[in-house]
Amino acid sequence: QLVLDTLDKFGTIQDTRALVLPGYTEPAASHDSQIIILGALNSLSSRDMISYTTQETVSHVLTPEGAQIAVQGSHEARVWQALPHKGEGSSMTPKQLEERVGSETAKIGQGRAFKNKWIGKEGDGLVRLAPSIEDITQVELREVDSTGTLKAGEKALAELRKRKLIVQRKGQWFTVKKESAFSTSISKPETDLTIDMLTSNSWKTSTYKKYNFEAEGLPPSGGALHPLLKVREEIRNIFLEMGFAEMPTSSFVESGFWCFDALFVPQQHPAREVQDTFYLSDPAESKAPPKAYYERVSKVHEHGGYGSTGYRAPWSDAESRKLLLRTHTTASSASMLYKLAAKCRGEEADQSADAAAAHGSSAQASKEDDSGFRPAKLFSVDRVFRNETMDATHLAEFHQVEGVVADRGLTLADLIGFMRVFFNKMGIKNIRFKPAYNPYTEPSLEIFAFHPQLRKWVEVGNSGMFRPEMLEPMGFPKDVHVHGWGIGLERPTMIRYGINNIRSLVGHKVSLESVENSPAVRF
Ligand code: PHE
Repeated sequence: QLVLDTLDKFGTIQDTRALVLPGYTEPAASHDSQIIILGALNSLSSRDMISYTTQETVSHVLTPEGAQIAVQGSHEARVWQALPHKGEGSSMTPKQLEERVGSETAKIGQGRAFKNKWIGKEGDGLVRLAPSIEDITQVELREVDSTGTLKAGEKALAELRKRKLIVQRKGQWFTVKKESAFSTSISKPETDLTIDMLTSNSWKTSTYKKYNFEAEGLPPSGGALHPLLKVREEIRNIFLEMGFAEMPTSSFVESGFWCFDALFVPQQHPAREVQDTFYLSDPAESKAPPKAYYERVSKVHEHGGYGSTGYRAPWSDAESRKLLLRTHTTASSASMLYKLAAKCRGEEADQSADAAAAHGSSAQASKEDDSGFRPAKLFSVDRVFRNETMDATHLAEFHQVEGVVADRGLTLADLIGFMRVFFNKMGIKNIRFKPAYNPYTEPSLEIFAFHPQLRKWVEVGNSGMFRPEMLEPMGFPKDVHVHGWGIGLERPTMIRYGINNIRSLVGHKVSLESVENSPAVRF
Protein backbone atom coordinates (compact mmCIF):
# COMPACT_ATOMS: atom_id res chain seq x y z
CA GLN A 1 0.00 0.00 0.00
CA LEU A 2 2.92 2.32 0.80
CA VAL A 3 4.35 1.70 -2.68
CA LEU A 4 0.98 2.36 -4.34
CA ASP A 5 0.30 5.53 -2.32
CA THR A 6 3.79 6.89 -3.02
CA LEU A 7 3.42 6.22 -6.75
CA ASP A 8 -0.01 7.84 -6.72
CA LYS A 9 1.46 10.96 -5.13
CA PHE A 10 4.77 11.28 -7.03
CA GLY A 11 4.26 9.25 -10.22
CA THR A 12 7.47 7.22 -9.71
CA ILE A 13 9.73 6.05 -6.90
CA GLN A 14 13.34 6.85 -7.79
CA ASP A 15 14.91 5.07 -4.86
CA THR A 16 13.08 2.68 -2.58
CA ARG A 17 15.65 3.39 0.15
CA ALA A 18 13.83 6.68 0.70
CA LEU A 19 10.55 5.00 1.66
CA VAL A 20 9.64 5.03 5.31
CA LEU A 21 8.06 1.71 6.18
CA PRO A 22 4.99 1.65 8.44
CA GLY A 23 6.05 1.61 12.08
CA TYR A 24 9.45 3.21 11.34
CA THR A 25 10.68 6.78 11.59
CA GLU A 26 13.85 6.35 9.49
CA PRO A 27 13.94 5.63 5.74
CA ALA A 28 14.21 1.98 4.76
CA ALA A 29 17.95 2.02 4.00
CA SER A 30 18.78 -1.38 5.46
CA HIS A 31 19.19 -4.58 3.53
CA ASP A 32 16.34 -6.25 5.43
CA SER A 33 13.93 -3.42 4.63
CA GLN A 34 14.73 -3.66 0.93
CA ILE A 35 14.00 -7.40 1.03
CA ILE A 36 10.56 -6.63 2.48
CA ILE A 37 9.96 -4.02 -0.23
CA LEU A 38 11.09 -6.46 -2.94
CA GLY A 39 8.38 -8.91 -1.81
CA ALA A 40 5.72 -6.21 -2.26
CA LEU A 41 7.14 -5.16 -5.65
CA ASN A 42 7.02 -8.74 -6.96
CA SER A 43 3.47 -9.18 -5.83
CA LEU A 44 2.36 -5.87 -7.44
CA SER A 45 4.24 -6.44 -10.69
CA SER A 46 2.68 -9.90 -11.09
CA ARG A 47 -0.65 -8.01 -11.22
CA ASP A 48 0.76 -5.61 -13.82
CA MET A 49 0.19 -2.72 -11.42
CA ILE A 50 3.83 -1.63 -11.37
CA SER A 51 7.23 -2.45 -12.83
CA TYR A 52 10.63 -1.97 -11.26
CA THR A 53 14.34 -2.03 -12.02
CA THR A 54 16.96 -3.31 -9.64
CA GLN A 55 20.07 -1.37 -8.65
CA GLU A 56 22.98 -3.13 -7.04
CA THR A 57 24.92 -1.49 -4.23
CA VAL A 58 27.91 -2.39 -2.19
CA SER A 59 27.83 -1.10 1.34
CA HIS A 60 29.61 -1.87 4.59
CA VAL A 61 28.43 -3.06 7.96
CA LEU A 62 30.24 -3.24 11.30
CA THR A 63 31.60 -6.50 12.68
CA PRO A 64 30.87 -7.20 16.38
CA GLU A 65 34.30 -5.74 17.24
CA GLY A 66 33.63 -2.72 15.04
CA ALA A 67 30.27 -2.19 16.72
CA GLN A 68 31.93 -2.27 20.15
CA ILE A 69 34.48 0.35 19.08
CA ALA A 70 31.74 2.55 17.63
CA VAL A 71 30.20 2.67 21.11
CA GLN A 72 33.20 2.54 23.49
CA GLY A 73 35.98 4.01 21.39
CA SER A 74 39.09 2.37 19.95
CA HIS A 75 41.49 0.37 22.10
CA GLU A 76 44.11 3.14 21.87
CA ALA A 77 41.58 5.79 22.90
CA ARG A 78 40.48 3.70 25.86
CA VAL A 79 44.13 3.33 26.92
CA TRP A 80 44.69 7.09 26.62
CA GLN A 81 41.54 7.77 28.65
CA ALA A 82 42.61 5.45 31.44
CA LEU A 83 45.98 7.14 32.00
CA PRO A 84 46.78 10.24 34.12
CA HIS A 85 48.23 13.39 32.40
CA LYS A 86 51.96 13.74 32.28
CA GLY A 87 53.33 16.03 34.98
CA GLU A 88 50.42 15.51 37.36
CA GLY A 89 52.76 13.47 39.51
CA SER A 90 51.14 10.09 39.03
CA SER A 91 51.45 7.30 36.46
CA MET A 92 50.08 3.81 35.90
CA THR A 93 52.04 0.54 35.62
CA PRO A 94 51.24 -1.71 32.62
CA LYS A 95 49.73 -4.19 35.10
CA GLN A 96 47.39 -1.57 36.58
CA LEU A 97 46.38 -0.54 33.04
CA GLU A 98 45.57 -4.11 32.18
CA GLU A 99 43.34 -4.43 35.25
CA ARG A 100 41.55 -1.24 34.29
CA VAL A 101 40.85 -1.76 30.57
CA GLY A 102 41.23 -5.53 30.12
CA SER A 103 44.21 -7.37 28.69
CA GLU A 104 43.19 -7.24 25.04
CA THR A 105 42.57 -3.50 24.95
CA ALA A 106 45.73 -2.88 26.98
CA LYS A 107 47.81 -4.93 24.57
CA ILE A 108 46.45 -3.64 21.25
CA GLY A 109 45.76 -0.11 22.50
CA GLN A 110 49.25 0.56 23.92
CA GLY A 111 51.00 -0.14 20.64
CA ARG A 112 48.82 2.22 18.65
CA ALA A 113 48.71 4.89 21.35
CA PHE A 114 52.52 4.94 21.47
CA LYS A 115 52.70 5.13 17.68
CA ASN A 116 50.28 8.08 17.67
CA LYS A 117 52.36 9.70 20.44
CA TRP A 118 49.22 9.83 22.60
CA ILE A 119 50.97 8.20 25.54
CA GLY A 120 54.52 7.86 26.84
CA LYS A 121 56.62 6.55 29.70
CA GLU A 122 57.29 8.26 33.00
CA GLY A 123 59.64 6.21 35.14
CA ASP A 124 58.20 2.71 35.26
CA GLY A 125 54.71 3.94 34.55
CA LEU A 126 52.58 5.15 31.65
CA VAL A 127 51.11 8.65 31.20
CA ARG A 128 49.10 10.68 28.66
CA LEU A 129 51.21 12.86 26.37
CA ALA A 130 48.56 14.37 24.10
CA PRO A 131 46.28 16.83 25.92
CA SER A 132 43.38 15.77 23.70
CA ILE A 133 42.87 13.18 20.97
CA GLU A 134 40.57 12.57 18.06
CA ASP A 135 39.50 8.92 17.89
CA ILE A 136 39.33 8.66 14.09
CA THR A 137 38.54 4.93 14.14
CA GLN A 138 35.45 5.50 16.25
CA VAL A 139 34.33 8.42 14.13
CA GLU A 140 34.78 6.45 10.92
CA LEU A 141 32.94 3.41 12.28
CA ARG A 142 30.01 5.59 13.33
CA GLU A 143 29.91 7.02 9.81
CA VAL A 144 29.92 3.53 8.26
CA ASP A 145 27.23 2.43 10.68
CA SER A 146 24.85 5.17 9.63
CA THR A 147 25.68 5.57 5.90
CA GLY A 148 27.15 2.20 4.91
CA THR A 149 30.26 3.94 3.53
CA LEU A 150 32.96 6.59 4.20
CA LYS A 151 33.31 9.99 2.61
CA ALA A 152 37.07 9.53 3.02
CA GLY A 153 36.86 6.87 0.33
CA GLU A 154 37.90 3.37 -0.55
CA LYS A 155 41.39 3.52 1.02
CA ALA A 156 39.99 4.23 4.48
CA LEU A 157 37.33 1.53 3.99
CA ALA A 158 40.00 -0.97 2.99
CA GLU A 159 41.96 -0.19 6.14
CA LEU A 160 38.93 -0.84 8.35
CA ARG A 161 38.22 -4.07 6.44
CA LYS A 162 41.81 -5.20 7.00
CA ARG A 163 41.38 -4.57 10.74
CA LYS A 164 38.24 -6.72 10.57
CA LEU A 165 36.09 -3.89 11.95
CA ILE A 166 33.78 -3.76 8.90
CA VAL A 167 32.72 -6.14 6.14
CA GLN A 168 31.28 -5.59 2.68
CA ARG A 169 27.61 -6.28 2.17
CA LYS A 170 26.00 -6.42 -1.28
CA GLY A 171 22.65 -4.73 -1.36
CA GLN A 172 19.79 -3.84 -3.69
CA TRP A 173 17.41 -0.98 -4.08
CA PHE A 174 14.74 -0.35 -6.67
CA THR A 175 13.25 2.24 -9.00
CA VAL A 176 9.50 1.80 -9.43
CA LYS A 177 6.95 3.06 -11.94
CA LYS A 178 3.24 2.59 -12.64
CA GLU A 179 1.94 0.02 -15.10
CA SER A 180 -1.35 -0.54 -16.96
CA ALA A 181 -3.27 -2.08 -14.07
CA PHE A 182 -2.16 0.61 -11.61
CA SER A 183 -4.63 1.52 -8.91
CA THR A 184 -4.26 2.60 -5.31
CA SER A 185 -6.11 -0.43 -4.01
CA ILE A 186 -5.19 -4.02 -4.55
CA SER A 187 -8.15 -5.95 -5.83
CA LYS A 188 -8.00 -9.65 -5.33
CA PRO A 189 -8.24 -11.13 -8.82
CA GLU A 190 -10.77 -13.87 -9.43
CA THR A 191 -9.41 -17.39 -9.73
CA ASP A 192 -12.62 -19.05 -10.86
CA LEU A 193 -15.88 -18.34 -12.68
CA THR A 194 -18.92 -18.79 -10.44
CA ILE A 195 -22.63 -19.00 -11.20
CA ASP A 196 -23.08 -15.72 -9.32
CA MET A 197 -20.58 -13.96 -11.58
CA LEU A 198 -22.41 -15.25 -14.67
CA THR A 199 -25.91 -14.28 -13.54
CA SER A 200 -24.88 -10.85 -12.25
CA ASN A 201 -22.75 -10.21 -15.37
CA SER A 202 -19.90 -9.19 -13.07
CA TRP A 203 -17.65 -11.59 -14.98
CA LYS A 204 -17.40 -8.97 -17.73
CA THR A 205 -15.60 -6.48 -15.54
CA SER A 206 -13.79 -8.75 -13.12
CA THR A 207 -10.04 -9.10 -13.21
CA TYR A 208 -8.72 -12.61 -13.38
CA LYS A 209 -5.63 -14.18 -11.99
CA LYS A 210 -3.35 -15.37 -14.78
CA TYR A 211 -2.63 -19.03 -15.11
CA ASN A 212 0.89 -19.92 -14.04
CA PHE A 213 1.93 -22.69 -16.37
CA GLU A 214 5.35 -22.83 -14.74
CA ALA A 215 3.90 -23.80 -11.35
CA GLU A 216 4.85 -27.23 -10.12
CA GLY A 217 1.93 -29.44 -9.23
CA LEU A 218 1.38 -30.67 -5.70
CA PRO A 219 3.04 -34.00 -5.07
CA PRO A 220 0.31 -36.63 -5.12
CA SER A 221 -0.42 -38.04 -1.70
CA GLY A 222 -0.85 -41.72 -1.23
CA GLY A 223 1.04 -44.88 -0.47
CA ALA A 224 4.48 -45.68 -1.80
CA LEU A 225 6.13 -49.05 -2.22
CA HIS A 226 9.30 -49.61 -0.23
CA PRO A 227 12.30 -49.93 -2.60
CA LEU A 228 12.69 -53.62 -1.69
CA LEU A 229 9.08 -54.24 -2.67
CA LYS A 230 9.53 -52.37 -5.95
CA VAL A 231 12.52 -54.49 -6.85
CA ARG A 232 10.67 -57.62 -5.76
CA GLU A 233 7.79 -56.66 -8.03
CA GLU A 234 10.10 -56.15 -10.97
CA ILE A 235 11.80 -59.50 -10.41
CA ARG A 236 8.44 -61.20 -9.95
CA ASN A 237 7.31 -59.79 -13.30
CA ILE A 238 10.39 -61.19 -15.03
CA PHE A 239 9.62 -64.64 -13.62
CA LEU A 240 5.96 -64.47 -14.58
CA GLU A 241 6.87 -63.29 -18.07
CA MET A 242 9.12 -66.35 -18.40
CA GLY A 243 6.31 -68.72 -17.43
CA PHE A 244 7.23 -69.32 -13.80
CA ALA A 245 4.75 -69.89 -10.97
CA GLU A 246 5.27 -68.52 -7.46
CA MET A 247 5.91 -71.04 -4.69
CA PRO A 248 4.25 -70.68 -1.30
CA THR A 249 7.01 -69.57 1.08
CA SER A 250 5.16 -68.49 4.22
CA SER A 251 6.86 -71.04 6.47
CA PHE A 252 9.74 -69.07 8.00
CA VAL A 253 10.19 -71.90 10.48
CA GLU A 254 11.43 -75.16 8.97
CA SER A 255 12.95 -78.34 10.30
CA GLY A 256 16.57 -79.38 9.88
CA PHE A 257 15.13 -82.05 7.63
CA TRP A 258 13.68 -79.71 4.99
CA CYS A 259 16.30 -76.99 5.31
CA PHE A 260 19.32 -79.33 5.14
CA ASP A 261 18.76 -83.12 5.12
CA ALA A 262 16.42 -83.20 2.12
CA LEU A 263 19.06 -81.13 0.29
CA PHE A 264 21.75 -83.66 1.09
CA VAL A 265 23.57 -81.18 3.37
CA PRO A 266 25.56 -83.38 5.76
CA GLN A 267 24.40 -83.30 9.37
CA GLN A 268 27.89 -82.24 10.42
CA HIS A 269 27.96 -79.27 7.99
CA PRO A 270 29.22 -76.03 9.61
CA ALA A 271 26.24 -74.05 8.24
CA ARG A 272 24.03 -76.04 10.63
CA GLU A 273 25.87 -74.84 13.73
CA VAL A 274 24.26 -72.31 16.12
CA GLN A 275 26.80 -69.67 15.07
CA ASP A 276 25.15 -69.66 11.65
CA THR A 277 21.57 -70.82 12.17
CA PHE A 278 18.88 -69.65 14.60
CA TYR A 279 17.24 -72.62 16.36
CA LEU A 280 13.87 -72.49 18.13
CA SER A 281 13.62 -73.40 21.79
CA ASP A 282 9.83 -73.63 22.04
CA PRO A 283 8.72 -75.73 20.28
CA ALA A 284 12.16 -77.15 19.66
CA GLU A 285 11.17 -80.17 17.64
CA SER A 286 9.26 -80.59 14.38
CA LYS A 287 6.57 -83.09 13.49
CA ALA A 288 7.82 -86.21 11.74
CA PRO A 289 8.41 -85.80 7.97
CA PRO A 290 6.78 -88.31 5.57
CA LYS A 291 8.05 -91.70 6.83
CA ALA A 292 9.15 -93.48 3.67
CA TYR A 293 10.83 -90.38 2.26
CA TYR A 294 12.54 -89.72 5.59
CA GLU A 295 13.97 -93.23 5.51
CA ARG A 296 15.27 -92.83 1.95
CA VAL A 297 16.90 -89.52 2.88
CA SER A 298 18.57 -90.83 6.04
CA LYS A 299 19.77 -93.86 4.11
CA VAL A 300 21.39 -91.88 1.30
CA HIS A 301 23.18 -89.72 3.92
CA GLU A 302 24.42 -92.63 6.01
CA HIS A 303 25.01 -95.40 3.49
CA GLY A 304 24.62 -93.85 0.04
CA GLY A 305 22.55 -95.08 -2.90
CA TYR A 306 21.48 -93.86 -6.37
CA GLY A 307 25.11 -94.23 -7.40
CA SER A 308 26.43 -92.29 -4.39
CA THR A 309 28.58 -93.48 -1.52
CA GLY A 310 26.80 -91.15 0.92
CA TYR A 311 28.55 -89.44 3.84
CA ARG A 312 29.07 -92.62 5.86
CA ALA A 313 28.58 -90.69 9.10
CA PRO A 314 26.09 -91.65 11.82
CA TRP A 315 22.57 -90.25 11.24
CA SER A 316 20.83 -88.28 13.99
CA ASP A 317 17.03 -88.09 14.22
CA ALA A 318 17.36 -85.25 16.72
CA GLU A 319 19.41 -83.15 14.25
CA SER A 320 16.77 -83.70 11.58
CA ARG A 321 13.87 -82.75 13.87
CA LYS A 322 15.35 -79.48 15.15
CA LEU A 323 13.20 -76.45 14.36
CA LEU A 324 14.98 -73.43 12.94
CA LEU A 325 14.48 -70.21 11.03
CA ARG A 326 15.14 -71.16 7.42
CA THR A 327 18.59 -70.12 6.22
CA HIS A 328 17.61 -70.24 2.56
CA THR A 329 14.40 -70.47 0.52
CA THR A 330 15.80 -73.67 -1.01
CA ALA A 331 14.07 -75.30 1.98
CA SER A 332 10.74 -74.31 0.39
CA SER A 333 11.95 -75.39 -3.04
CA ALA A 334 12.82 -78.80 -1.63
CA SER A 335 9.39 -79.36 -0.15
CA MET A 336 7.76 -78.10 -3.35
CA LEU A 337 9.85 -80.48 -5.47
CA TYR A 338 8.91 -83.32 -3.13
CA LYS A 339 5.23 -82.47 -3.74
CA LEU A 340 5.80 -82.21 -7.47
CA ALA A 341 7.10 -85.79 -7.48
CA ALA A 342 3.98 -87.14 -5.70
CA LYS A 343 2.57 -88.93 -8.73
CA CYS A 344 5.96 -90.34 -9.64
CA ARG A 345 5.89 -91.99 -6.19
CA GLY A 346 2.48 -93.43 -7.02
CA GLU A 347 0.69 -91.09 -4.61
CA GLU A 348 -2.23 -88.74 -5.20
CA ALA A 349 -1.11 -85.60 -7.03
CA ASP A 350 -0.37 -82.79 -4.59
CA GLN A 351 -2.67 -79.89 -5.30
CA SER A 352 -0.36 -76.97 -4.56
CA ALA A 353 2.50 -78.38 -6.64
CA ASP A 354 0.16 -79.42 -9.39
CA ALA A 355 -1.48 -76.03 -9.58
CA ALA A 356 1.92 -74.34 -9.72
CA ALA A 357 3.19 -76.61 -12.47
CA ALA A 358 -0.01 -76.27 -14.51
CA HIS A 359 -0.09 -72.50 -14.09
CA GLY A 360 3.52 -71.93 -14.84
CA SER A 361 4.26 -73.94 -17.92
CA SER A 362 2.80 -74.16 -21.37
CA ALA A 363 -0.14 -76.56 -21.69
CA GLN A 364 1.84 -79.04 -23.66
CA ALA A 365 4.89 -79.05 -21.48
CA SER A 366 2.93 -79.24 -18.27
CA LYS A 367 1.05 -82.37 -19.25
CA GLU A 368 2.18 -85.18 -17.06
CA ASP A 369 3.78 -88.18 -18.73
CA ASP A 370 3.46 -91.90 -18.03
CA SER A 371 5.66 -91.69 -14.95
CA GLY A 372 3.39 -89.06 -13.49
CA PHE A 373 6.00 -86.29 -13.93
CA ARG A 374 5.13 -82.88 -15.19
CA PRO A 375 7.75 -80.21 -15.90
CA ALA A 376 7.69 -77.13 -13.71
CA LYS A 377 9.24 -73.69 -13.43
CA LEU A 378 8.92 -72.28 -9.92
CA PHE A 379 10.18 -69.18 -8.12
CA SER A 380 9.98 -67.36 -4.82
CA VAL A 381 11.11 -64.07 -3.31
CA ASP A 382 11.02 -64.20 0.48
CA ARG A 383 12.80 -63.82 3.75
CA VAL A 384 15.60 -65.93 5.19
CA PHE A 385 17.50 -65.76 8.47
CA ARG A 386 21.15 -66.20 9.34
CA ASN A 387 23.03 -65.67 12.57
CA GLU A 388 25.34 -63.12 10.94
CA THR A 389 27.56 -60.50 12.52
CA MET A 390 25.59 -57.41 11.57
CA ASP A 391 27.37 -54.56 9.83
CA ALA A 392 26.74 -51.93 7.15
CA THR A 393 25.81 -54.53 4.54
CA HIS A 394 24.55 -57.50 6.60
CA LEU A 395 21.45 -58.04 8.71
CA ALA A 396 20.32 -61.26 10.40
CA GLU A 397 17.35 -61.43 8.05
CA PHE A 398 17.25 -60.69 4.35
CA HIS A 399 15.47 -61.73 1.16
CA GLN A 400 16.37 -64.38 -1.36
CA VAL A 401 15.15 -64.66 -4.91
CA GLU A 402 15.09 -68.27 -5.97
CA GLY A 403 14.11 -70.19 -9.08
CA VAL A 404 14.00 -73.88 -9.95
CA VAL A 405 13.32 -75.57 -13.29
CA ALA A 406 12.47 -79.26 -13.48
CA ASP A 407 12.38 -81.14 -16.79
CA ARG A 408 13.67 -84.25 -18.47
CA GLY A 409 17.23 -84.11 -19.73
CA LEU A 410 18.11 -80.57 -18.57
CA THR A 411 21.83 -79.86 -18.75
CA LEU A 412 24.28 -77.31 -17.41
CA ALA A 413 23.98 -75.52 -20.76
CA ASP A 414 20.27 -75.01 -20.05
CA LEU A 415 21.13 -73.46 -16.70
CA ILE A 416 23.77 -71.13 -18.20
CA GLY A 417 21.54 -70.16 -21.12
CA PHE A 418 18.66 -69.54 -18.78
CA MET A 419 20.77 -67.35 -16.46
CA ARG A 420 21.85 -65.18 -19.38
CA VAL A 421 18.23 -64.57 -20.40
CA PHE A 422 17.10 -63.93 -16.82
CA PHE A 423 19.86 -61.46 -15.96
CA ASN A 424 19.51 -59.79 -19.34
CA LYS A 425 15.89 -59.07 -18.46
CA MET A 426 17.14 -57.45 -15.25
CA GLY A 427 19.37 -55.19 -17.35
CA ILE A 428 22.54 -57.10 -16.50
CA LYS A 429 24.01 -57.91 -19.90
CA ASN A 430 27.42 -59.11 -18.92
CA ILE A 431 27.65 -62.19 -16.67
CA ARG A 432 30.32 -64.78 -15.95
CA PHE A 433 30.31 -68.07 -14.13
CA LYS A 434 32.78 -69.54 -11.68
CA PRO A 435 32.82 -73.14 -10.44
CA ALA A 436 31.65 -73.33 -6.82
CA TYR A 437 30.55 -75.86 -4.24
CA ASN A 438 27.09 -76.48 -2.72
CA PRO A 439 26.28 -79.74 -0.95
CA TYR A 440 23.04 -80.03 -2.97
CA THR A 441 24.20 -79.10 -6.47
CA GLU A 442 26.82 -80.53 -8.79
CA PRO A 443 28.10 -78.80 -10.79
CA SER A 444 27.61 -75.49 -8.93
CA LEU A 445 28.24 -72.06 -10.40
CA GLU A 446 28.66 -68.67 -8.82
CA ILE A 447 27.33 -65.89 -11.02
CA PHE A 448 29.28 -62.65 -11.40
CA ALA A 449 28.07 -59.47 -13.08
CA PHE A 450 30.15 -56.52 -14.21
CA HIS A 451 29.14 -53.47 -12.21
CA PRO A 452 29.59 -50.38 -14.40
CA GLN A 453 29.68 -47.89 -11.49
CA LEU A 454 31.93 -49.94 -9.22
CA ARG A 455 33.91 -51.01 -12.32
CA LYS A 456 34.41 -54.54 -11.11
CA TRP A 457 32.87 -58.00 -11.21
CA VAL A 458 30.54 -58.55 -8.26
CA GLU A 459 28.96 -61.81 -7.18
CA VAL A 460 25.23 -61.70 -7.84
CA GLY A 461 24.12 -65.28 -7.31
CA ASN A 462 24.70 -68.94 -6.79
CA SER A 463 23.32 -71.79 -8.86
CA GLY A 464 23.67 -75.40 -9.85
CA MET A 465 22.19 -78.72 -10.97
CA PHE A 466 20.48 -80.44 -8.03
CA ARG A 467 22.15 -83.73 -7.09
CA PRO A 468 20.59 -87.15 -7.70
CA GLU A 469 21.07 -87.77 -3.93
CA MET A 470 18.46 -85.04 -3.44
CA LEU A 471 16.08 -85.70 -6.35
CA GLU A 472 15.90 -89.48 -6.52
CA PRO A 473 14.78 -90.07 -2.90
CA MET A 474 11.89 -87.69 -3.72
CA GLY A 475 10.81 -90.13 -6.43
CA PHE A 476 11.81 -88.28 -9.62
CA PRO A 477 12.77 -90.52 -12.57
CA LYS A 478 16.53 -90.58 -13.19
CA ASP A 479 16.40 -88.38 -16.29
CA VAL A 480 14.45 -85.62 -14.62
CA HIS A 481 17.00 -82.92 -13.91
CA VAL A 482 16.43 -79.80 -11.88
CA HIS A 483 18.48 -76.65 -11.97
CA GLY A 484 18.16 -73.87 -9.52
CA TRP A 485 19.69 -70.57 -8.48
CA GLY A 486 19.45 -68.02 -5.74
CA ILE A 487 20.19 -64.29 -5.68
CA GLY A 488 19.90 -61.71 -2.92
CA LEU A 489 17.29 -58.96 -3.07
CA GLU A 490 18.98 -56.36 -0.85
CA ARG A 491 22.27 -56.08 -2.72
CA PRO A 492 20.90 -55.17 -6.17
CA THR A 493 18.43 -52.81 -4.48
CA MET A 494 21.19 -51.01 -2.58
CA ILE A 495 23.28 -50.71 -5.74
CA ARG A 496 20.25 -49.48 -7.67
CA TYR A 497 19.38 -46.77 -5.15
CA GLY A 498 22.98 -45.87 -4.25
CA ILE A 499 22.47 -46.90 -0.63
CA ASN A 500 25.60 -48.06 1.16
CA ASN A 501 24.24 -48.76 4.62
CA ILE A 502 21.63 -51.51 4.88
CA ARG A 503 20.05 -49.65 7.82
CA SER A 504 18.89 -46.91 5.47
CA LEU A 505 17.01 -49.59 3.55
CA VAL A 506 15.63 -51.84 6.30
CA GLY A 507 14.44 -51.04 9.81
CA HIS A 508 13.40 -48.04 11.87
CA LYS A 509 16.01 -45.69 10.42
CA VAL A 510 14.55 -45.79 6.91
CA SER A 511 13.40 -42.30 5.96
CA LEU A 512 9.83 -42.22 4.72
CA GLU A 513 10.82 -39.42 2.40
CA SER A 514 13.37 -41.60 0.63
CA VAL A 515 10.70 -44.29 0.23
CA GLU A 516 8.21 -41.83 -1.22
CA ASN A 517 10.74 -40.24 -3.56
CA SER A 518 12.57 -43.32 -4.78
CA PRO A 519 12.15 -43.66 -8.54
CA ALA A 520 10.68 -46.60 -10.40
CA VAL A 521 13.07 -49.49 -10.68
CA ARG A 522 15.35 -49.98 -13.70
CA PHE A 523 18.27 -52.30 -13.25
N1 PHE B 1 20.51 -71.83 -1.56
C1 PHE B 1 21.61 -71.16 -2.22
C2 PHE B 1 22.06 -69.97 -1.34
O1 PHE B 1 21.52 -69.77 -0.28
C3 PHE B 1 21.25 -70.67 -3.59
C4 PHE B 1 20.97 -71.82 -4.55
C5 PHE B 1 19.66 -72.16 -4.85
C6 PHE B 1 22.02 -72.51 -5.12
C7 PHE B 1 19.39 -73.19 -5.71
C8 PHE B 1 21.76 -73.52 -6.00
C9 PHE B 1 20.46 -73.87 -6.30
O2 PHE B 1 22.98 -69.26 -1.69
